Amino acid sequence: MEVKKPSESFTAMNELVLPNDTNTFGNLMGGRLMYWMDIAAGIAAGKHCNAPSMTASVDNLSFKNPIKLGNVVHIEAKVCRAFNTSMEIHLKVWGEDLLHQYKYESNEAFFTFVALDPNGKPRQVPSLTPETDEEKLLYDGALRRRQIRLILAGKMKPNDAIELKAFLNAK
Ligand SMILES: CC(C)(COP(=O)(O)OP(=O)(O)OC[C@H]1O[C@@H](n2cnc3c(N)ncnc32)[C@H](O)[C@@H]1OP(=O)(O)O)[C@@H](O)C(=O)NCCC(=O)NCCS
Repeated sequence: MEVKKPSESFTAMNELVLPNDTNTFGNLMGGRLMYWMDIAAGIAAGKHCNAPSMTASVDNLSFKNPIKLGNVVHIEAKVCRAFNTSMEIHLKVWGEDLLHQYKYESNEAFFTFVALDPNGKPRQVPSLTPETDEEKLLYDGALRRRQIRLILAGKMKPNDAIELKAFLNAK
């Protein structure tokens, strides 16, 4: 099976916050941002596996700073680990005020996508080899994050999450 690098799935997306994207405070609605993040994650997953893929889960999203009406949204997405049929995608989001020329962090999240065959069944994805220090850190943590997700989804018994248990016991 082919081996890919995280940089091969790198996806950058920009959006402008328009009035129809905002809540009553004049900030970007969280749901709209999640929609754009899902698209960016889906593109990154597609670049990695070159097959149709579907959102399986979204990790907790906490919004550090609201993105204001008229500001630009920057979303960066990259596959940080490939398992058997699933891929974990790391996303970073910033807002940018073009008038006052500054950028600010909005949030960070992990999405999991599953590649599907023509019958809609999960299919194997290429494996992934991290290159940079940041990519290696994300790659190592992905196994534990996957175990947390599968436990929460009722698809793994906590006792089977060996790497997660070892990590928690070491802390
Ligand atoms: C995601 C989906 C394809 C998984 O199918 P499934 O029959 O549960 O398949 P499996 O249990 O064999 O799991 C397939 C892969 O999905 C992963 N997976 C399943 N549920 C998961 C979850 N809640 N979180 C993270 N990964 C999950 C499994 O770990 C497995 O990955 P691996 O092969 O790399 O080990 C299926 O649940 C589905 O179609 N869900 C609806 C997705 C959807 O509609 N998304 C759009 C948003 S509404």
